[in-house]
Amino acid sequence: MERVWLWSMFVLLSVCGLCVFGEEGKEWKKIRKDISEAVVGYTPCDPVNCSCHLSVLQHDLQHFTAGISEDLMATTIQRGVGTHYQIIGHKLYREHNCMFPARCSGVEHFIIEVIDSLPDLELVINVRDYPQVPSWVTPTLPVFSFSKTSDYQDIMYPAWTFWEGGPAVWPIYPTGLGRWDLMRDDLKKSAAQWPWTKKESKGFFRGSRTSPERDPLILLSREAPELVDAEYTKNQAWKSEKDTLGKPPAKEIPLVDHCKYKYLFNFRGVAASFRFKHLFLCGSLVFHVGDEWQEFFYPQLKPWVHYIPVRQDLSDVRELLQFVKQNDAIAEEIATRGKEFILNHLQIQDVSCYWQRLLTEFSHLLTYKPKRNNSYNQIFHKPSKTELCLRCSQRSRRRLASGKSV
Ligand SMILES: *[C@@H]1O[C@H](CO)[C@@H](O)[C@H](O)[C@H]1NC(C)=O
Ligand SMILES: *[C@@H]1O[C@H](CO)[C@@H](O)[C@H](O)[C@H]1NC(C)=O
Repeated sequence: MERVWLWSMFVLLSVCGLCVFGEEGKEWKKIRKDISEAVVGYTPCDPVNCSCHLSVLQHDLQHFTAGISEDLMATTIQRGVGTHYQIIGHKLYREHNCMFPARCSGVEHFIIEVIDSLPDLELVINVRDYPQVPSWVTPTLPVFSFSKTSDYQDIMYPAWTFWEGGPAVWPIYPTGLGRWDLMRDDLKKSAAQWPWTKKESKGFFRGSRTSPERDPLILLSREAPELVDAEYTKNQAWKSEKDTLGKPPAKEIPLVDHCKYKYLFNFRGVAASFRFKHLFLCGSLVFHVGDEWQEFFYPQLKPWVHYIPVRQDLSDVRELLQFVKQNDAIAEEIATRGKEFILNHLQIQDVSCYWQRLLTEFSHLLTYKPKRNNSYNQIFHKPSKTELCLRCSQRSRRRLASGKSV
């Protein structure tokens, strides 16, 4: 009797062992296959004249190939979904109001930078977070927004945040992350201090609870701290521990210190998250949750080639973390490709170049010659706070960014 029992236990165990290891092995075979297929199918883009991202503006402008009439533009302006700009004789003019002056200023920096090469044109730029042109509404209005999903037909422009305008993160980035070119340098330095082999083999996330979508990762971190260190921080809306999922808020960690960890998480915020592009520069492997929200440079970043795609509901996150921990060489290769892409194809000059091509192509669609509205003021280039401090040491720049006087 006992032997039969032992025997059945043995059979049960081996079958179960098979099913557990068999399942795991099969799943990893699938992930490995996804990765190798994505890598084989990937053609690196040609970096000449920011042509890498060209297909994005072509796609966004295709709704307007029949031309943009003066009437359609007037309707768009009247709708009040963005700020009206005019470029006439290589000068930039703007209607008086801008909902977020620092954001407008971040946008204007790039337009003024390329204005000498631009023909006359006018456009409406939405500096709110949310896109304004749902696909189900006709006629399609030409509105420029920084981010959208496939349900919207806004024309994507490179966000203000490449230069200035936030979002602020208290208390570490009170005026936003700051200039992308300077941030790139800081992150490159930090990445050099934290080469792959020195990094902790753990997922890492610090951010506020802008949406409950992030909850499963925080909960996984509480349950399996060896896999991931993820905690909520306070944001301005924080009222009680309920807003940090029943625990006291964690301290904000500057982005350069995220480089200590091998796997970094990116979630959407209200729209696309500005954090995304920064994470790659740590040389860490980016776990990108969901794929709905886009910015102009997202389509060239490919799942499995440059980052690990994670389901929006995070149902696969534990398994993906286990996979990368046990397939370290594959993980490092993806991290390296992601970093190289952002280093080579998302330089600040790629941002200016995109603006230039976008506005040039857009101007060709206008079927009329824009006339200057005399009540608008000319916008001049004004040096930003960080720009004034371009030549000062990184330390004083940091002090400046943290609000202390230099
Ligand atoms: C890149 O742009 C410059 C200036 O507009 C132009 O002269 C050059 O031919 C372009 N190169 C390619 C490969 O398109
Ligand atoms: C010029 O702008 C003002 C203020 O925004 C507006 O009331 C007026 O209609 C505009 N004029 C033209 C010709 O579009």
